[in-house]
Amino acid sequence: MSVRILTALVPLALGTFIVLHYDLAANAAAYVQNFPFTGLVPATPNSRKEPQPYTRHIVAVGDLHGDWMNARKVLHFSGVINDQDEWSGDVDFFAQTGDIIDRGPDTIKLFTFMDELRAQAQAQGDVVLSMLGNHEWMNALGDWRYVYPTELATFDSVKARQTMLSTGAIGRSWASNYTTASRLPLHPSLGPPNTPYPSQHEGPLSHSALSFVHGGLSPSYSNLSPFPSKINEISDSLLRKLQSRDQPDPHPPGPYAGLPADATHDEQELYGSNGPLWYRGWAQDTEAAVCKDVEGVLQKTGTRRMIMGHTPDFDNITSRCGGKIIIIDTGISRAYGGVLSALSIHYTLEPIGKALTLDEQEWQEREVVSALYEDRQEILADDTRRVVGNFATP
Ligand SMILES: *[C@@H]1O[C@H](CO)[C@@H](O)[C@H](O)[C@H]1NC(C)=O
Ligand SMILES: *[C@@H]1O[C@H](CO)[C@@H](O)[C@H](O)[C@H]1NC(C)=O
Repeated sequence: MSVRILTALVPLALGTFIVLHYDLAANAAAYVQNFPFTGLVPATPNSRKEPQPYTRHIVAVGDLHGDWMNARKVLHFSGVINDQDEWSGDVDFFAQTGDIIDRGPDTIKLFTFMDELRAQAQAQGDVVLSMLGNHEWMNALGDWRYVYPTELATFDSVKARQTMLSTGAIGRSWASNYTTASRLPLHPSLGPPNTPYPSQHEGPLSHSALSFVHGGLSPSYSNLSPFPSKINEISDSLLRKLQSRDQPDPHPPGPYAGLPADATHDEQELYGSNGPLWYRGWAQDTEAAVCKDVEGVLQKTGTRRMIMGHTPDFDNITSRCGGKIIIIDTGISRAYGGVLSALSIHYTLEPIGKALTLDEQEWQEREVVSALYEDRQEILADDTRRVVGNFATP
């Protein structure tokens, strides 16, 4: 969170002021507090919480494939890290949609860095959301076809790499700090990241959330709901089986070991071509088909946009159906030589006028979605909605 705070005194009534701490960078009033101004007039406790504007800034980055230098550039120009390569505090959420491993030498560096960043973000009240990509899963399975010899050398031996990715530092981080899917509510009244949908209370903001997966949430995938908890339960269980088995000889030169013999139907489907790790339909199907299908998936997952990597476009972040589908893999790694990119979303919820009761308060919700590149920015969507209700920020 930002530290640039402007404090203003706003007269409310005779003898009472509110102290408005206005966060300039985030454009949000952090909190409002009454305090008695003079001893002459007794300060009446004001139970009426004023409707407060609220804002969040989210940055998402796609496939990084073993290239620390390009990853660093992207995190820098998107404002996630500062000149010391540390969490800047200028964004509230940073999401990475998987495929950090393979095709480059910097696997250890990148996973270590992401956990450092996660801790720095946490210390400032911010969040790093990390997804596993199909390449992380391939390595957990022993499918090492895309491992660079220069990368293997950073682990010293095949055995050491197997250990590091299963019971070692990287494997443990995958198990505790990474998920296959994420749901990010845009407003705190909806709960913290990965609060499952549906919840008990449907409200006007219930769908004010984003989904993140590596490949895509296919409309015919069986385990979209509750989201993202169903997918992540299956993913946790499969990862546990893979990490606790005797590690098979990597393929190649070993034979392809595949999923464990006791993998359930759901676990097989998770890793299948229609599952969230491999699905490419949102990138490859016709506009008419995807724009028809997207509504059902947004409905089931309680979200307004789906953000994914996996299928690269080397020139641009791809936005389809008015920004309901956003594909952020631009081949950032020098293995591909695509454009360096990040997705930025500025969310605001602002009161419009002042209603008699908080429940009747009208608000404007706005999401400005931009593609950021080294030398240009492009607005992909600028959507506003009006909602009515009491959305006091906790
Ligand atoms: C998960 O990330 C935290 C930082 O938030 C880090 O301290 C921890 O070591 C990571 N967990 C594992 C098991 O690596
Ligand atoms: C893709 O990026 C190029 C610049 O690299 C730009 O000229 C072009 O208009 C973009 N295409 C789309 C569909 O946005």
